[in-house]
Amino acid sequence: MRYDYVIVGAGIAGLYATLNIPKDKSVLLLSKDPIWECNTFYAQGGVATAVDEEDIYAHIEDTLKAGAGLCDKEAVEILSRNSILVIEDLIARGFEFDRDEEGNLLFTKEAAHSRPRILHAGGDATGRELHRFLLQNTHAKVFDGVIVIDLLIEDGICHGVTVRQGAKQFNVYANNVFLTSGGIGSLYEFHTNAKKISADIQGIAALKGLPLKDMEFTQFHPTVFVYNKRARKFLLTEALRGEGATVVDEEGRRFLFDYDPRGELAPRDIVSRAIFRHQKAGHKVYLDFAAFSEEFFKKRFPNIYRTFRNLGYAVPFDRVPISPAFHFIMGGIKTDTWGKVEGMENLYAVGEVACSGVHGANRLASNSLLEGLVFSKRAVEDSLIQDRQIRPKEFRQLPFVLTKSEDKALKERLRHIMWHKVGIIRKRGELEEALEFTQEVLEQDIGYLLKLRVLSAKAIIQAALNRKESVGAHYIEGE
Ligand code: SIN
Repeated sequence: MRYDYVIVGAGIAGLYATLNIPKDKSVLLLSKDPIWECNTFYAQGGVATAVDEEDIYAHIEDTLKAGAGLCDKEAVEILSRNSILVIEDLIARGFEFDRDEEGNLLFTKEAAHSRPRILHAGGDATGRELHRFLLQNTHAKVFDGVIVIDLLIEDGICHGVTVRQGAKQFNVYANNVFLTSGGIGSLYEFHTNAKKISADIQGIAALKGLPLKDMEFTQFHPTVFVYNKRARKFLLTEALRGEGATVVDEEGRRFLFDYDPRGELAPRDIVSRAIFRHQKAGHKVYLDFAAFSEEFFKKRFPNIYRTFRNLGYAVPFDRVPISPAFHFIMGGIKTDTWGKVEGMENLYAVGEVACSGVHGANRLASNSLLEGLVFSKRAVEDSLIQDRQIRPKEFRQLPFVLTKSEDKALKERLRHIMWHKVGIIRKRGELEEALEFTQEVLEQDIGYLLKLRVLSAKAIIQAALNRKESVGAHYIEGE
């Protein structure tokens, strides 16, 4: 099988890339099962964008400030300067963001933004609406129910990927390979990510010696309902706080102001740590919707309304118990500002799997969907300029044993250790214990998929140990 493009992952970055690839190019999009289940689908808040030309400067400043001095300034400028363009492109293709009665786009506010600049769709269903729209408009051939288990790399060229579909294994070759597979949520016990986001590609990158950058910067979302049985916990979007929801304890006290004068609108790492500390001090923490009428709440946050009514909470009258949970990794496979993987000829990484430098030590809310749009378009543009024709080369298939009987228990222990020892507040000694655990597991007879997970976890822990000071989402104290 040979294509002009192979795209690994069917979230916003992968799908929007396919929309930008000319129709006369052959494109294969690979997705785990089911195709709709990805982080894009679950994104509630929206897409951040500069509201107009005048707002570009402020959007850049807010992004740099959130990134705690560790963003790549050029990448941030590219992100913001291109934001209006990609939004206009989506609208021109027929996508409908929410508008007011006069037809003006509605912008909401989220933490650490200096003004409302988040576009949304379907109220709190932005990701779902976008994902459906992009899927409907792609011309790519789609294989779902597949796992990419290897990158066929030789002399700085990625010739393609090895794929497993049930018991079948095969190689797919391409002139350009795009990695758009998302982050690492399943490494943590509590997370907001789609179940299939399991850090495989970051693990392959570690195995192949591709550069991983900023892996210690893992972001925890402050307002998550973690009391459901599923691995994926239920996010309560930042937009709720942006529009007036408050964080209170069992006495109804807005304790966040004890930690930061911005209260509910402080950056999410600060809010997460404050909630975490308050819980450790024995308090219960809730999101309170007293600011909203039922009519407004139902219209603006229809999914959250429905979900919590089904769970037995009479929102907006009942408050909902919350906790922070892992949400997003700022680090990933290091790329240039065209999405090209450092040191590689025709391999691109875009979105959460990548580290383009736009997020630095902490991501500004709702910049992630925007990153997927802007940098996937740029990656396609670069590939078209290069117009590569990679000389065909066959690779032997390696006999991968994906799973073994002990894997499940070890995977659960890893998730527990990542949450408790590589979480919101880190201690050096605990990071060392976590590292030791990963080394012990890697020496055991484990399945290949678990090995990839553990390699990704190890990269995070090592980076956390190397970063001695607290910065952004990496917070370290004591020994
Ligand atoms: C949210 O809706 O709170 C999540 C937005 C984001 O992760 O940027």
